[in-house]
Amino acid sequence: MEKKTIVVVGATGAQGGGLVRAILADPQGGFAARALTRDVTTEKARALAAAGAEVVAADVDDAASLRRAFAGAYGAFCVTFFWDHFSPEKEQAQAKAMAQAGKDAGVKHVVWSTLEDTRKWVPLDDPRMPTLQGKYKVPHFDAKGEANRFFAEAGVPTTCLNTSFYWDNLVHFGMGPKRGEDGKLSFVLPMGDRKLPGIAAEDIGRCAYGVFKRADLIGKTVGIAGEHLTGAQMAAELSKALGQPVSHAAVPPDVYRSFGFPGADDLGNMFQFKADFETDYCAARDLGFSRSLNPKLQTFAQWLAANKERIPLG
Ligand SMILES: NC(=O)c1ccc[n+]([C@@H]2O[C@H](COP(=O)([O-])OP(=O)(O)OC[C@H]3O[C@@H](n4cnc5c(N)ncnc54)[C@H](OP(=O)(O)O)[C@@H]3O)[C@@H](O)[C@H]2O)c1
Repeated sequence: MEKKTIVVVGATGAQGGGLVRAILADPQGGFAARALTRDVTTEKARALAAAGAEVVAADVDDAASLRRAFAGAYGAFCVTFFWDHFSPEKEQAQAKAMAQAGKDAGVKHVVWSTLEDTRKWVPLDDPRMPTLQGKYKVPHFDAKGEANRFFAEAGVPTTCLNTSFYWDNLVHFGMGPKRGEDGKLSFVLPMGDRKLPGIAAEDIGRCAYGVFKRADLIGKTVGIAGEHLTGAQMAAELSKALGQPVSHAAVPPDVYRSFGFPGADDLGNMFQFKADFETDYCAARDLGFSRSLNPKLQTFAQWLAANKERIPLG
């Protein structure tokens, strides 16, 4: 049986990497992985090739390379890289280029990794949170949500996949517990007693794989999460896993925005949005549905058991 090729953008990264590994872990599943990277010689790219992926050079900023990489594929997983450049406009240009490449190649199913356009909940004139970069509330969300239309306008059969906060941010993004002057650990999450939908980054790709197996999800927007947890619940799980008390520091979003690291204002707005619209945001990420796409879906405790040693305890 001929396998259906899925082009995977961001294959050496978190989301795309999870998808490539999910495809390769299911040799009878009927899909093959074409992993895109800007540099086929890196260790990560070579590891994907060694594991059985077709590894192809492409840059989402280079339309011709994208067209070549998408040719002949059944499907494509499209993701953008906001934190590499902090530019919503660049993210949108890349989404548009991927939608066009999908159209040119006549792909049958695109999974577009996206997030909500928060301005549908918080218009720009809403004073609850500052407007950023002139026309956004949460730039890295709004840019993706606004870009959904490029796939629709290109007429590409697309599932919009609303992802969730990676628990891996505690390892890679400086969001792990911090040790205070009193020597005690505290976990900062500016969401009061509201729930944060979170997920193991690896599970995003596994869920995306589940979406590719569900042609009935074409034309739909779906959302995924591993668990919806309050900051206090996350701190309690951290305490158990780390074997030392971790408290929840529920700083107000204004304080978080003022932390001053690059993107603090964007993330402060993001957490405030998730807190203020907890019901909508959580409902858009049903856990049972996520598990139906990916039976290996991890809980926070399971993710911690596998990753606790990697969390820097500053
Ligand atoms: N952190 C979170 O909690 C979270 C939650 C939801 C959504 N997101 C979103 O996730 C997105 C990032 O996805 P990720 O975490 O999977 O990324 P990632 O782990 O940083 O990996 C991105 C990969 O994409 C490739 N890449 C970067 N620029 C490229 C380009 N111009 N052309 C082709 N490939 C390029 C790189 O591979 P090569 O170097 O091999 O080319 C890199 O390995 C962001 O937009 C972010 O907003 C993050």
